[in-house]
Amino acid sequence: MARVLSGIKPTGQLTLGNYIGALRRFPVYQNDNETFIFIADLHALTLPIDPELLKTNSRDIAAFYLAAGLDPNKTTIFLQSQVSAHAELNAILQNFLYMGELSRMTQYKEKALASNESALGLGLFAYPVLMASDILLYDASIVPVGEDQIQHVELTRDLVRRFNNRYGEILVMPEAKIGAGARIMSLSDPTRKMSKSDPKGDIYLKDDLKTVRKKIMAAVTDSLGTVVYDPERQPGVANLLTIYAALNDIDIKQAQARFANSQYGAFKTAVADCVVAALEPLQQKYHDLISSGQLDEILEKGAQRASKIAVKTLNKVKQAVGLL
Ligand code: TRP
Repeated sequence: MARVLSGIKPTGQLTLGNYIGALRRFPVYQNDNETFIFIADLHALTLPIDPELLKTNSRDIAAFYLAAGLDPNKTTIFLQSQVSAHAELNAILQNFLYMGELSRMTQYKEKALASNESALGLGLFAYPVLMASDILLYDASIVPVGEDQIQHVELTRDLVRRFNNRYGEILVMPEAKIGAGARIMSLSDPTRKMSKSDPKGDIYLKDDLKTVRKKIMAAVTDSLGTVVYDPERQPGVANLLTIYAALNDIDIKQAQARFANSQYGAFKTAVADCVVAALEPLQQKYHDLISSGQLDEILEKGAQRASKIAVKTLNKVKQAVGLL
């Protein structure tokens, strides 16, 4: 059985993009693989975040994992910070990724450009080391991620080659898996990714359903007036088609065919209907879970199970590098 691992960083409210690209895909793996899905709370500290908000976001992600269909009896669901092997492996592996490589990571470069590099935390620079530790601790061969994380998985692969060349076959080579419809764009600026920071263009999983409908009806489109998948000329329409196709489990061509004679108003209404139909039961389960008081216990059990496996890899690595 292959090991699958992925996680989400609890830095903001989850969006429809997270749902389509990640949450909805995770349960697919849990029947035929050994699946580990975690909350990357240590990674959330790489940029300043309010402690109460971090706690809320972390529990929210756990609740949405379960609401989206992850079964804690099949999938190990845990908080990164509750499995200390992540921090320990990080301390070792930081010596096997180089400053030059880390400074070339797009995610880091974008953050560095947006603010003053000399005031950014070391953790942000070293982000890919911790991410590599997350993946390698579980011998994960499959890593479902969004496009923006491919570079980090590639760097993890470089690290595996480097480490195994020197110490023998200790670490398992991971591979990134990108899902269809993994890239959902902002509704207010469809040339930008939907990413937790633009209340008008983002659909949050916790938005009330009237607001969801309003946001979709107000989505930016174009003046061409035909529902055609052309991300260059009609990025707004293409994005809505992507959402519709993903939520109905059909391909884009089929989605486009359904709206061949539709006006934008009717098309948007159909998109809003299917988003609301997906979010309604999800929100119901989320609320039940949050009020059930079971979350912390599920996370503790998950951390115990994860630790057992993680510690084995950590010990192999410690031995290999010469730690007594
Ligand atoms: N960096 C990922 C993100 O921002 C989150 C993450 C942390 C992750 N560690 C990981 C994803 C390991 C997959 C595997 O979305």
